[in-house]
Amino acid sequence: MSSGVNYTRSEVRQMAGYVPGQQPSPGSRIIKLNTNESPLPPSPKVAVAITDVMRNDSIMRRYPDPQSMELRRIAARISGCQSSQVIAGNGSDELLRVVLDTFVEKDETVAFFSPSYSLYPVLTRIRGGRIKSLPLFQEGSIYQPDTDGIKLFFLTSPNAPLGFSFSNDYIRELAQRLNGILVVDEAYADFAGDNALALVHEFDNLIILRTLSKSYGLASLRVGLGFAVSALIEQLDKVRDSYNLDRLAQIGAQAALADQDYLQKTVSLVIKERQHLSAALQDLGFKVEPSQANFVFVTPPQGCLAVDLQAALEKSGFLVRYFSNPDLAHGLRITVGLRSEMDQLIDAIKNIG
Ligand SMILES: Cc1ncc(COP(=O)(O)O)c(C=O)c1O
Repeated sequence: MSSGVNYTRSEVRQMAGYVPGQQPSPGSRIIKLNTNESPLPPSPKVAVAITDVMRNDSIMRRYPDPQSMELRRIAARISGCQSSQVIAGNGSDELLRVVLDTFVEKDETVAFFSPSYSLYPVLTRIRGGRIKSLPLFQEGSIYQPDTDGIKLFFLTSPNAPLGFSFSNDYIRELAQRLNGILVVDEAYADFAGDNALALVHEFDNLIILRTLSKSYGLASLRVGLGFAVSALIEQLDKVRDSYNLDRLAQIGAQAALADQDYLQKTVSLVIKERQHLSAALQDLGFKVEPSQANFVFVTPPQGCLAVDLQAALEKSGFLVRYFSNPDLAHGLRITVGLRSEMDQLIDAIKNIG
C-alpha cells in the first residue's frame, strides 16, 4: 500500500527541519536569554495603534493592504530610501525564503559562513539549492571566499552567534566580486556601530534584511524588512504571499518604526548591559567575543564545559543557547537582558562555579 508520505519531494524527505530555540510557556518564571529577544516591551504606541484597529468593526473584516504600502513608506523615510526600494515580510525569515525562491534555480549554489544563522541551510535544502558552507576565519583573519559559481550569498552582519560586524569595505568587495545576489542579514544591526544599508544605492545585486523582532521588541508580531534597488524589490514582490502581513502586523510595525526615540532608548540600554555582562563574565574568567549585537558569545574558563554550564543554568531557571556544532560547542550564546536579569545570571554562574 502506498503511503502519502512517499509523495514528499526528495529534498524535503531527506532533510532535518529547523530547530528553533526553546520557547517556555507564557507566564513561566524562567529568565529567557536564548533567542535574542528584546529585554524591553515594544513602544507603548504599538498597543495603542493595534487596539484602535481592533475596536473598529469595519476594518478587521476586510483584507489588509496586500502591499503594506504605509509600512514601506515609513521604513523608506527612516532609512533614506524610496518606498519602491523596500519590501515587508512576515519576519525576515519569510524574506529569506522569498529571496531563495526568486533567485535560486535547483542545484544552484547558495553560500554562507559557518557558523551563521542555522535557518539558511534548511531553506536552501527546501529550495533544492546546493550548500556551500564557508569557514569564517583563515589564519586568524576573516575568510575572503572564492565567489565562483555562487548564485546567492547570505552574510550575517553582525554575525550570529559570534557578534562581530563585517566592515562595509568587506561587503563592498564581496558584492563586486559576486556573480549573483548578496544578502546582508542585518537582524542585529541596530545594536552595531555601523551598517551596510547605504550600500543598496551602490550595488544592484545587494539586499539588506532587517527585522523588528530584536531591537523593536516585536518578535511576536513577525515583521521583517528588505531593502534593495527597485528592480530587485519588484521581482521579490511577485514571489511573496499576496497578503503576507496581516493588518495588525502592518499597523503595529508602523507605530514601532515611527517611534524612533523609543528604539534609541532600547538600543542604549542593551549596549550598556552588554558592556556590564561582558565585564562581569570576564572577571569570572570567561572569554567574551566582542559583540555588536544584543547577545554575547562566551567561552567558560578551563574545566567548565559549556554544555554542562547550560544544563546547570537551566536547572537554576535560566535559558541560554548551546550549539552542538563543533565550531561552537566550546561556548554559549547569552542574550543581553535587564540589569536585574544579568546580575541574577552572574550570581547563578558563581554558585554553579
Ligand atoms: C541572523 C538572523 N536573521 C534572521 C532572524 C529571524 O528574524 P525574524 O524574527 O524577523 O524572522 C534571526 C532570528 O533569530 C537571526 O538571528
